[in-house]
Amino acid sequence: MILSLAPFQGITDSVYRNLYKEYFTGIDKYYTPFFTGIHKDNSRSLKGEEIDVNCNDVNTLTPQILGNDAEEIIRFASQCQAMGYKEINLNMGCPFPRVANKVRGCGLMAEPKRVNELFDKIFNNIDIKFSLKCRLGYYNDTEIDELIDSFNAYPFSEIIIHPRIGKQLYTGYADVDRFAELVPKIKRPLVYNGDIFSVDDFKRISEKLPDISMFMLGRGLLTNPFLADEIKGMTFDYDERKKKLHHFVVSLYLERLRHAGGSPKIIGCMKEMWSYLMNSFEDSQNIWRKIKKINNLDVYEETVEIIFRDESLRGSTV
Ligand SMILES: Cc1cc2nc3c(=O)[nH]c(=O)nc-3n(C[C@H](O)[C@H](O)[C@H](O)COP(=O)(O)O)c2cc1C
Repeated sequence: MILSLAPFQGITDSVYRNLYKEYFTGIDKYYTPFFTGIHKDNSRSLKGEEIDVNCNDVNTLTPQILGNDAEEIIRFASQCQAMGYKEINLNMGCPFPRVANKVRGCGLMAEPKRVNELFDKIFNNIDIKFSLKCRLGYYNDTEIDELIDSFNAYPFSEIIIHPRIGKQLYTGYADVDRFAELVPKIKRPLVYNGDIFSVDDFKRISEKLPDISMFMLGRGLLTNPFLADEIKGMTFDYDERKKKLHHFVVSLYLERLRHAGGSPKIIGCMKEMWSYLMNSFEDSQNIWRKIKKINNLDVYEETVEIIFRDESLRGSTV
């Protein structure tokens, strides 16, 4: 079984990914949040730590691009390949209207002809593994049916499907049954992604998908960073768990602070992570009340210490 960490723009950057690896072992594969604007060879967008091979492991990280221009995607592929990466991923899942309305991200799902032409140009011009991350459709969950022939016509290294439609954003639920219907039809390695928040969710979903061995964890792992380890059978007692989580959260903050040269701008990023992490605690609303009003580094540091001193994690023993 292969578990991957879903990309989250603004959260799972190289700082998060590298630190996560130091504390937890359950994730086998990582993806960068999406890159855009690769307008020329030797693009400046591909110069930073986010993709620098000195800060990332080319064997376990797949860079992702959001776009609909074959030339740009090919340029991205060749620059990633030159750096040593083994695979790139195209984002066809981003549901936000400002993206989808420009026929990018999930907006592409409703345009099967255009998508097929895009794949054709890409696969004729790249020499690196190419994978896809998508939803069931943008307006409805049958749009993907129109894409199956294209999926099967090109050698995708994997296709990650989050079984919602774009218009839903994150409302409703991930439709595991619809995903299961697609399994025998798509002759490419499939990765399931969606609504795995606990080991029980994983068991329920994986039982419905006996032929699937690759799962991508998203909000569930941001909420409970132990999730991948737990799915792989590790157990942690309450004190060990709380101590480890505390260390991880403090180290992440310090590492972000170091990378940002001490700038309080990192508070926004830490708050975004807490918007998920708070659900690891019994009194999540109380945590969020404390976190959301923080506006400087001293208060942030003090609040985190108070939370770990006073608040209880959900799940009292293991
Ligand atoms: C704030 C936010 C940022 C995200 N950024 C990306 C991204 O850059 N690339 C991508 O493919 N998906 C992105 N996603 C989608 C997640 O990777 C994932 O597919 C989604 O959360 C569903 O999985 P889950 O139910 O396990 O959370 C983002 C989602 C959220 C909420």
